[in-house]
Amino acid sequence: MAHAEPPIPVTARSHGPLSGRVRVPGDKSISHRSLILGLLAIGEARIHGLLESEDVMHTAAAARALGAIVHRDGPGAWRVRGVGIGGLREPAGPLDFGNAGTGSRLMMGVCGAHPITVTFDGDASLRQRPMRRILDPLELMGATVVAQQDGGRVPITIRGPKEAVPISYRPPVASAQIKSAVLLAGLAAPGETSVIEPEATRDHTEKMLAHFGAELRASPDGAHGRRIVLKGQPELQAAPVLVPADPSSAAFPLVAALIVPGSDVIIESVMTNPLRSGLLATLREMGADITVESESDAGGESVATLRVRASALCGITVPSERAPSMIDEYPVLAVAAAFATGTTRMRGLQELRVKESDRLAAVEAGLKAAGVTCRIEGDDLVVEGGSGSVAGGGVVATHLDHRIAMSFLVMGLATRKPMQVDDGAMIATSFPGFVALMNELGAEIG
Ligand code: S3P
Repeated sequence: MAHAEPPIPVTARSHGPLSGRVRVPGDKSISHRSLILGLLAIGEARIHGLLESEDVMHTAAAARALGAIVHRDGPGAWRVRGVGIGGLREPAGPLDFGNAGTGSRLMMGVCGAHPITVTFDGDASLRQRPMRRILDPLELMGATVVAQQDGGRVPITIRGPKEAVPISYRPPVASAQIKSAVLLAGLAAPGETSVIEPEATRDHTEKMLAHFGAELRASPDGAHGRRIVLKGQPELQAAPVLVPADPSSAAFPLVAALIVPGSDVIIESVMTNPLRSGLLATLREMGADITVESESDAGGESVATLRVRASALCGITVPSERAPSMIDEYPVLAVAAAFATGTTRMRGLQELRVKESDRLAAVEAGLKAAGVTCRIEGDDLVVEGGSGSVAGGGVVATHLDHRIAMSFLVMGLATRKPMQVDDGAMIATSFPGFVALMNELGAEIG
């Protein structure tokens, strides 16, 4: 189940200022959740703006294998007729999630609380990622791990209990995936399931559960944490979902516009959920010229059209408590930091070691390939900025990681010599059309 295509090296070179108006595809987190809640609801959920990327398509296939009728009406327009909580069908074969940590972990939560046996698998990257963090709470809820690799890696086979046991769970790390898996499992349990997170993480699962009719409440816990309590065994009713543009994808044209001299780019309707907008706050602290052209609401999420102009950035220290709100944006932030004046220290990045690749190591190696001085100190990444000038000229190993590929292609738009990534194929897992969208703005990537 490795990524099937042969590696596709891609090169980015500087080619003058970027300008124009773009809209990036739908949010990956919300897209996965819309299909999963569609599966668990009664009735037909209509989804607009679904991200049609490889990761999300694996979740759609899994929802079908578990009994949902999933239909595509046109670009981004999907319908899901669910089976209701308790109505999941045992799939005929293993569920292949490809590269998708979110799809696999959230579906483990769903399946691990139902009396069915399900095998989860994925590509070489997913097979490296820790799943114990999901299996531990599921075992407390009554699931049996029938088979696992290497202390909790896929392929994993889980058998759910006849009736799941509600728990009160404190995830050992701040992770929306762990929180979501426990809440989704809690849907099948009687009584109340609660999650007490050490730091608040993206709340898309909670919002969408409420939108589908579940009863849950959230309250602050400690300085940065949150307690979410879900009433089990609700009858979820299908509801329409409008997927806003993904801020984690918008981050790439945004940083490109900041670092390519003379650029002026408008990015339309980007989701600005405060639990996702740490990158905007950080870049503004660094001196980025980002203005809000208009603000509105899209399906219960705030969205804003952003105007981004090339800016002289300065190095800052990014506090660790900001990490959950920008966890996927550190690779491209590190690229921005390479062009800043002075030192940028990003604190508390331990979770980057267990993403689609070891992102801490991959970013350090990529920056070094571009001639940037940087180092890892404990769990911090420290980047010495080149005051707008970075040599480039290197080849970056992407390790099956879409965000490493896109980050270093963005970098190559502003380095003195071109940057090459060893494989651009993985970009399709989250941002199909990335190269075309960037080139529409005047980039030279190919
Ligand atoms: C996601 C949560 C984050 C993030 C991932 C998407 C989600 O992972 O990195 O890309 O949709 O819940 P963690 O929850 O493991 O930090």
